Amino acid sequence: MSRRLCLLIFTLFIINALAVDKNNFKTCEQASFCKRSRNVNYEKSPYEIVPNTLNINANYITADIVNKENGHLFVLKLEGIKGNTFHFEIDEKTPLKPRYRVVDALQKEPTYEAVKVSSSTSDITVTCGENKAVISTAPFKIDFYQKDVLSVTANSKAKMHFEHLRKKLEGEQHQQNNENEEKDNVVDNNQQIQDEPGTWEENFKGHHDTKPNGPTAVALDFTFHQSNVLFGIPEHADSFALKTTVGNGDPYRLYNLDVFEYELNSRMALYGSVPVIYGHGEKGTTGIFWQNAAETWIDIAGTSNEQNVMESIVNFVAGSRNQDAPSAHFISESGIMDVFVLLGPTPNEAFKQYTDLIGHGNLPQMFAIGYHQCRWNYNDEQDVMSVAHKFDEHDIPMDTMWLDIEYTDSKKYFTWDHQKFPHPVEMIKNLTDMGRHLTFIIDPHIKRDSGYFFHNDCTDRGYYIKTKEGKDYEGWCWPGSASYPDFFNPEIRKYYADQYLMENFHENSPETGIWNDMNEPSVFNGPEITMLKDNLHYGGWEHRDVHNLYGQMQLVGTFDGLIRRSQNQLRPFILTRAHFSGTQRYAAVWTGDNAAEWGHLEAAIPMCLSLSVAGISFCGSDVGGFFGNPEAELFSRWYQTSAFMPFFRSHAHIDTKRREPWLFPEETKLIIRDAIRKRYSFLPFWYTIFYEHERTGMPIMRPLLAQYPLDKNVFSIDTHFMLSDKLLIRPVMQKGASKVDVYFPSRNGDKQGDIWYDIDDYRKIDHVGSESVTVNAYKVPVFQRGGTIIPRKMRIRRSAILMHDDPITLVVALDAKKHAKGTLYIDDEKSYGYRQGKYLYLEFEFKDGVLSSRLIDESASYNTKTWLERVIIVGLDKVPTEATLRTSSNQSTKLEIVDASKTSFTIRKPGVSMMEPTWSITLN
Ligand SMILES: *[C@@H]1O[C@H](CO)[C@@H](O)[C@H](O)[C@H]1NC(C)=O
Ligand SMILES: *[C@@H]1O[C@H](CO)[C@@H](O)[C@H](O)[C@H]1NC(C)=O
Repeated sequence: MSRRLCLLIFTLFIINALAVDKNNFKTCEQASFCKRSRNVNYEKSPYEIVPNTLNINANYITADIVNKENGHLFVLKLEGIKGNTFHFEIDEKTPLKPRYRVVDALQKEPTYEAVKVSSSTSDITVTCGENKAVISTAPFKIDFYQKDVLSVTANSKAKMHFEHLRKKLEGEQHQQNNENEEKDNVVDNNQQIQDEPGTWEENFKGHHDTKPNGPTAVALDFTFHQSNVLFGIPEHADSFALKTTVGNGDPYRLYNLDVFEYELNSRMALYGSVPVIYGHGEKGTTGIFWQNAAETWIDIAGTSNEQNVMESIVNFVAGSRNQDAPSAHFISESGIMDVFVLLGPTPNEAFKQYTDLIGHGNLPQMFAIGYHQCRWNYNDEQDVMSVAHKFDEHDIPMDTMWLDIEYTDSKKYFTWDHQKFPHPVEMIKNLTDMGRHLTFIIDPHIKRDSGYFFHNDCTDRGYYIKTKEGKDYEGWCWPGSASYPDFFNPEIRKYYADQYLMENFHENSPETGIWNDMNEPSVFNGPEITMLKDNLHYGGWEHRDVHNLYGQMQLVGTFDGLIRRSQNQLRPFILTRAHFSGTQRYAAVWTGDNAAEWGHLEAAIPMCLSLSVAGISFCGSDVGGFFGNPEAELFSRWYQTSAFMPFFRSHAHIDTKRREPWLFPEETKLIIRDAIRKRYSFLPFWYTIFYEHERTGMPIMRPLLAQYPLDKNVFSIDTHFMLSDKLLIRPVMQKGASKVDVYFPSRNGDKQGDIWYDIDDYRKIDHVGSESVTVNAYKVPVFQRGGTIIPRKMRIRRSAILMHDDPITLVVALDAKKHAKGTLYIDDEKSYGYRQGKYLYLEFEFKDGVLSSRLIDESASYNTKTWLERVIIVGLDKVPTEATLRTSSNQSTKLEIVDASKTSFTIRKPGVSMMEPTWSITLN
């Protein structure tokens, strides 16, 4: 190699090591279907309802749609779903062959609701409950009304574009066909696009896509009439409120990709794709779930962001609010149009309408809510055990040790490297004896090694994804040459799940967690680091059709395997990188390979909030950043932020310096210890809100607008979030900060707000607006809302599961009416017993000077040793002289009041068991 070439390669390598190589990934312009659909520009949509084709059924209607430009026919089906939701789909009436429809995302068949229909030549009105959908016949569009308010319109911008399946025509035939078409007096506009490069086949960076079905895009626009902001469509490393993309760069892209060193403030695709978007304004919230698993781009218009702030000001000064309502233009490469319209009208209702369709996140085992310690890699058994012991030495709680790919025998999953891990079973048992868990990685790429049972089984049984010629597809990943099981086939999923069983994978335990990574799938030598689109799956579907769902299908298998591994006893804990609609039913999600930079710490909040409103609440970012070495201050601030996010794991790239907390200066270690211990003091609260998430489907981690939908100032806040409706968190995420601005939201859009109490000193805040809060290195600005009761545990142990029987502290934070309410959920913290009624779900209420407790579910019961250790009352104007506990057997006990300050006092040791069905404490 010449010196110059060598230098060039070296330089390229350096550039590559610093930031994402954008050239590896397509722009909309380079994805021919995106380019074609984005440029659709009709003055009047050519799609019309065909007269006299309306068909009315109990829960739905159908009607034909024609594309006037070429006479091609489609069928519209529109149905009502219980709970302010409509569903509609548009498919070809007689496609050359069936088009792919997603069947694995919804949790179950929705509950349909009766519709009433009236029609005229110009429109068809479909009423369902108090809502209606008004279909305009020519041009075609649908207006959706929540009660009488026009909430969202489909095809109001005439961007609808449906590329029907056609036979590929060659030279002469093409000519002939055009003549025939002309005879029929129909101009086939779509024939013209045949000539556009990329339509019938496409090249990208030396990869050839043969597109055997030709152009198959579907695209439709939605206008959100009552909205100021749009949000959702994770996963992007961008702000929570979506930015206008029309005339301003590329659309947001959804295509599960392994992006090396991803960039911030970017609409590039990342590891997961959840095609649900919400529009929100003071008048309400509306959602659109675009159920499609193919590559999808979303063009956004009419949202206010930096780009058009000037325009808004000009409009404002001119006295006109001439801005269009925000809109989203969905463009998918294949499949059908399959749309759920979520009519809210509040944010939490819209979120719940989505999760009611797609499934609520499951209550995890308690250990999974604790702190996770990971790195690529813990080198061997001694390393794992010594790190676990060091956590004890330094008195830092930790629940789970993690192993990345190096634990395997040369990247063959379901095997161990016995040089480094000669006694895996004993190691797992030693961790379990400490009250801890082990989680290790199992990726979907399978090493092509004739000595590997898994590879041989997959080869012999034809379990791998196939190339378009029907051969086993071979890509390059961690093991070198690798193939990928086709998880869409139920038989293959069953085989895969079986590999997790103890009888097959002896060197394991039913207690371990599993980490499914690289499941976009990542293919190092594939187009855009993933798989060829003309590869073939079960049922003959192209990879193109199912790409965004691949990772989730692996999770279905893993989940099944883990459940069966414990004879249905233990709730599986799985972490995944790829995700789609419904992933919350199987796994937690983290934000992938971030970097040790302040910006990446900040990005964790909007990224997890976007996932959260898209049904995936169990979310977190790698503490410290995966790439690079965090400075001490960044590292401790990251711990503080993640301690209040649902998934709490530290992780690091193999090339980074070791970063266990005690390797930092003593002060840094103490700050980190304090943050983790704070997390553990809130475990009963976390566990309760995870349970309530399973019960209601509403997010755990919420944007402020979920609770304060009328306060316009919170619509685009990326630095604050809430846990349930009770805690407000504004972490410190700037280097050297000695102050942060905390915004206390308004309930009515004006001056009326809640009372808040700083969780550290119970300082009271009772005004709306920004306040500059002083922060030292230990401070995490967290505020409990007045009107809430939060259960905590103040005896911190080495792991979450060891705190199971520990007593409860209740923090009662009063609102202006001296009232507060809260809940506590208790069970065995690991099994499915709770689904058979083995749990306690308590409601606490403080009212008229009396704190009382009752069972919410009276038929449920659970034998707990937990009891009430103390009650902290915050916000009562004067300290009472007496507190009396009364239990259901009517025994009364006088209690001691201690630690009285200006804002709070403590009722010492009520001692009442959490099994007591009712009790009260009266203050005098
Ligand atoms: C497990 O713990 C025992 C007892 O402390 C110790 O002798 C053994 O080496 C440990 N094994 C592993 C693999 O950590
Ligand atoms: C419980 O005690 C209170 C006060 O001593 C009394 O008024 C009430 O009747 C008693 N209730 C029961 C069910 O014994």
